[in-house]
Amino acid sequence: MIDLSTDYLGLRLKNPLVPSASPLSKSIDTALRLEDAGAAALVMYSLFEEELHAEDAMLDRFLLHASLGHGEADGFLPDQSEFQGGLERYLAQLHQLKRRLEIPVVASLNGVSPSGWVALGRELEQAGADALELNVYHVAADAQASGRVVEDRYVELLTDLRAAVSLPIAMKLSPFFSSLPHFVRRLEQAGAQGVALFNRFYQPDIDLEELRMLDQLHLSSAEEALLRIRWIAILHGRTQMTLAATGGVHSESEALKLLLAGADVVHLASCLLQQGPEKLTAILAAMQNWMEEKEYESIAQLKGSMSQKNLPDPSIVARASYLRVLDSFSPRPGVWS
Ligand SMILES: Cc1cc2nc3c(=O)[nH]c(=O)nc-3n(C[C@H](O)[C@H](O)[C@H](O)COP(=O)(O)O)c2cc1C
Repeated sequence: MIDLSTDYLGLRLKNPLVPSASPLSKSIDTALRLEDAGAAALVMYSLFEEELHAEDAMLDRFLLHASLGHGEADGFLPDQSEFQGGLERYLAQLHQLKRRLEIPVVASLNGVSPSGWVALGRELEQAGADALELNVYHVAADAQASGRVVEDRYVELLTDLRAAVSLPIAMKLSPFFSSLPHFVRRLEQAGAQGVALFNRFYQPDIDLEELRMLDQLHLSSAEEALLRIRWIAILHGRTQMTLAATGGVHSESEALKLLLAGADVVHLASCLLQQGPEKLTAILAAMQNWMEEKEYESIAQLKGSMSQKNLPDPSIVARASYLRVLDSFSPRPGVWS
């Protein structure tokens, strides 16, 4: 019997497949189906900073109207219970998920401004979250802000959250850091227990007919796992933190490669949204078959065995392989001659 168990943010999981933050956790029924399908833990959709600020602004307006005694306008104002929007709904869903699921539930906070909103992590802790993921979805488009300033924003938010909760925290990062291992070390020193690599930025497109920008979400493809494989291979063995891979896992192949590179867990979103919970069961079974064939006894045995530190030729994930790859490329016969 193959031992599929793994460690994730100090939690012992029965296997490394963990549905990523997505709308799949918005329904208890869907979450139960994921658990039945074999999911080892569940990351909830995010609670967004903007939802919390919007609530504050509405509440201020409501209280102002109430104190000024705008009698006839009061009828148009929403009932105070309507202000219990994002946060209350999120806490209620977290309560439900904790009550109905046996697997660990990770709550997710998503925002960018260091304005104290992360202290709400305390409420998620009290509501029973087993860990927190902090997604600082920040497009670094300010020419005045250096790379260090961008990093500082993450560290500041993490430090605030660390002060508010005692739960393990995973930082969900974008791939756009100039020295990722150094930054990951900073996050570890600031109290993170894990990193989730990488956040997928949705990319705006241009509508050539209407000549306007389009914001639409494209689901991932398996190709995107390659970026994660490289960076996880580089980071494995260089940090004590959990390495969670998110992005591009559509079959057992990507999942196994990420684990071989050194991931502790593999997150799934697009493939589950597209193919349903049965896909998770199928990936898990196919992983087991492959491990049996290759005579692996446990995830622990294969984890990181192809990381940069364990490769006979570590240059394969760095510049030397770049030169080899460029040199070895030749166009399809007949295209140019
Ligand atoms: C429809 C949808 C909703 C998502 N919502 C969130 C979210 O609320 N918070 C978050 O951190 N990531 C969110 N993500 C990102 C996923 O958690 C995941 O990191 C990303 O999609 C890459 O994984 P994949 O290739 O398996 O889709 C969302 C992704 C999709 C497709």
